[in-house]
Amino acid sequence: MNIKLAVLPGDGIGPEVTSQALKVTEAVCQKYGHELHYEYGICGAHAIDAVGDPYPAQTHQLCMESDAVLFGAVGDPKFDNNPSAKVRPEQGLLAMRKQLGLFANIRPVETFDCLIHKSPLKDDLVRGADFICIRELTGGMYFGPKKEGDDEAYDTNLYSRAEVERILHVAYGYARQRRRHLTVVDKANVLASSRLWRKVAQEIAPQYPDVTTDYMYVDNAAMRMIQEPRFFDVMVTENTFGDILTDEGSCITGSMGLLPSASIGTHTSVFEPIHGSWPQAAGKDIANPLATILSAAMMFEYAFSLKAEAADIRRAVQRSLDENIRTADIQVAGQRPYSTTEVGQWITSQISQKSE
Ligand code: IPM
Ligand code: MN
Repeated sequence: MNIKLAVLPGDGIGPEVTSQALKVTEAVCQKYGHELHYEYGICGAHAIDAVGDPYPAQTHQLCMESDAVLFGAVGDPKFDNNPSAKVRPEQGLLAMRKQLGLFANIRPVETFDCLIHKSPLKDDLVRGADFICIRELTGGMYFGPKKEGDDEAYDTNLYSRAEVERILHVAYGYARQRRRHLTVVDKANVLASSRLWRKVAQEIAPQYPDVTTDYMYVDNAAMRMIQEPRFFDVMVTENTFGDILTDEGSCITGSMGLLPSASIGTHTSVFEPIHGSWPQAAGKDIANPLATILSAAMMFEYAFSLKAEAADIRRAVQRSLDENIRTADIQVAGQRPYSTTEVGQWITSQISQKSE
């Protein structure tokens, strides 16, 4: 297969983790006989510095012409504490989502047995938790009409029926491939937008009689995720609720450095770790590259339907954990922390050496 990749490393630790995932991607392509071409694009804070735009037109062009986008992270503290900044790195991410039509964000929450101790939750509660959150990504408050005045400000949680329908169909598709249990998360006891979600979900549910659908208010869902994470299989929710719940979900696993994500929609799909740009660690070669490497695995599976390749990456990641080739955030006591580059290199050579 011919694969054309857009690589958007972004800011902070983005470039370091992305280069490890790219090494892994190259090794997989080499091993399975795929021809890989990739090109770098700028985005985020350094794109603001370079051209004044966090998602410049040439980066969008590159994404549109590629088969998939491998994305690092964006963000820079110099913008965080400046509420009057005209442009922010995060706007680049939002522009990319909107312009590529990335309406579905898939965030799996899986636990690794050997890392259970890292979770702030009790072992027996977390062990075996395995669900995915499908977050609507191009609607709701993030993109609805806004006003930002000195005395009054608002964001509008606008959803159309069509937007709700298409994300629900995606969610049911995932539920069918898994344990056939879909939880629709909303706040229908208060919000009109949520009542539309629930109404549309109730209309669509009969089309999927093989899937059990249940409905949960978001406050209750936040509690249930901590109390009984194994309850969930596939969860679907709107943009803002999904943003909040997936950060919560990352704690179940034990480290932000482990969770990959895929954003899919009408144009090229984007694969990125869910952690941010961690500016304090930038350039130190200490960040955990696993979330980005696992995002590359999602890319092989979802963008190219190459399941064996994805499984190969996941096995190599598992082996690195088993052999304690781990960065500081997840290393066990008494073992030395490995650098970002060492972990990436170890996983890359595992993939190159073993013929499965
Ligand atoms: C995420 C991030 C983004 C979001 C920010 C950086 C705009 O938190 O991908 O979850 O809120 O969607
Ligand atoms: Mn977030």
